[in-house]
Amino acid sequence: MRTLAVVGGGVIGSAVAWRAAAAGWSVTLFDPAAGTGASWVAGGMLAPLSEGWPGETEALRFGAAALSRWPDLAAELRQATGIDVLVAAATLTVALDAADAADLRTIADFVGTQGHHMQLLDRAGVRATESTLARTVRAGLLAPEPAADNRLLLQALSRAGTAAGVHLRPETVTTLDDLDHDRVVLAPGAAAARLWPQLPIRPVKGEILRLHHRPGTPPPPRHVVRARVHGRSLYLVPRANGLVVGATQYEAGFDTTVTVAGVRDLIADAEAVLPGIGEYELAEAAAGSRPCTPDNLPLIGALTDRVIVAAGHGRNGILGMPITADAVLALLAGDTLPEAKAADPHRFPQISGGTR
Ligand code: GLY
Repeated sequence: MRTLAVVGGGVIGSAVAWRAAAAGWSVTLFDPAAGTGASWVAGGMLAPLSEGWPGETEALRFGAAALSRWPDLAAELRQATGIDVLVAAATLTVALDAADAADLRTIADFVGTQGHHMQLLDRAGVRATESTLARTVRAGLLAPEPAADNRLLLQALSRAGTAAGVHLRPETVTTLDDLDHDRVVLAPGAAAARLWPQLPIRPVKGEILRLHHRPGTPPPPRHVVRARVHGRSLYLVPRANGLVVGATQYEAGFDTTVTVAGVRDLIADAEAVLPGIGEYELAEAAAGSRPCTPDNLPLIGALTDRVIVAAGHGRNGILGMPITADAVLALLAGDTLPEAKAADPHRFPQISGGTR
């Protein structure tokens, strides 16, 4: 049986490990604390259409191809583990002023030129879709984009991986030279450049809150709700017991301290969109390191005959998980996945071949 080492036990590494083991590889997953990094902190939005913008055609194509794989992936995980990871009916981006409303039309028009339909809503349409949003919301854009509960997803991947035969080694890999496996998949998120310095992946800090609904307070929205408040991007992602509020964004190295200012801004921005959350329980504040690349597309491809990179998913690691697993499985079988071409790491000239 051919051996595979997967370095990194977030959603990307765990999904690759599971799928590779199911395909007949003898898989060892290396992570000193699997499932505790950015994948644990994440919100779980699956919103490539809502984030569409003229000129960013490659990102939209890649994101839409990623989204299209989610229903089958979720069904497969449900069948393998009994865990249903999808939450939210769809994604509603709302406008609080005329400039935001114009942006929603720009997004809808651009995404429409690429063959995707989104529904523009007026004030009354927004109210009919989510009745508890602030009265100041003046327009909305509804997209067929659910969300995933990232923590249920980690649990499901771990369970499915174990059942498929993945062997977890809770160890830090400091050099790939220590691994004698036939193939290696490098999926350690923001830490990828520590193991392969040519990779243009840097940490981008994000703080996020988890709020629990309390009896007698307005129920959480059924949709993912996104907005721009005071120039900052905000999202509210429903959970069974409340919602996730995200996220701040700073260039702060590997710092994962939750700051007072971060929590203050998230609460203030969330209340501007959903006034009822003031009575929710503030259950958790956390911060993680997004693995970002210069062009906001991930790096998925062969670095050498032995090593494959699957990292750099930035703000979209949960979204990109199924297409990444498909692309890596294709590479392991000596093939390529055309929809993942935009993520070829060799678009960055400093990434040359090596011998490891
Ligand atoms: N997934 C959105 C974020 O990173 O904030």
